[in-house]
Amino acid sequence: MANVSQVELEKLLEVARQVAGNSYSPYSEFRVGAALRLTNGETITGTNVENVSYGLTICAERAAVVRAVSQFGPKIRIAAVAVANLNGKASPPCGACRQVLAEFIGPDAPVIFPVAGGTLTMTFSELLPLGCEMKLK
Ligand code: THU
Repeated sequence: MANVSQVELEKLLEVARQVAGNSYSPYSEFRVGAALRLTNGETITGTNVENVSYGLTICAERAAVVRAVSQFGPKIRIAAVAVANLNGKASPPCGACRQVLAEFIGPDAPVIFPVAGGTLTMTFSELLPLGCEMKLK
């Protein structure tokens, strides 16, 4: 896995847990937080923001990616991702979020997320095989 220590990853997870408290999720009541460690050393967070249409809901991970680009520009790279929820349930990043993360992350970057009974850390390429190879530019 890329150069983010287990201790750093645990800290990132704690940041994700904290920000999950800001989730706007009146429909599912599933409160999710995401924290991205960028290669520039910055930590960027996001929460899920739901919508009455349901379909327009944005997940915590994608909210964080959009925020990171808005704040630091198109050249950002993601070194690690942490996802947490306040519901005590599994929440690996959804397919849409994996696809969006692929634009800004490398195959060896660690992604930590809740599973039944704890957390699991996988590399990005384990979560989305060949995802990083799909980029055209
Ligand atoms: N959700 C996320 O924000 N991230 C995940 O990794 C899993 C799902 C959100 C979407 C929706 O607002 C709620 O959780 C229930 O699926």
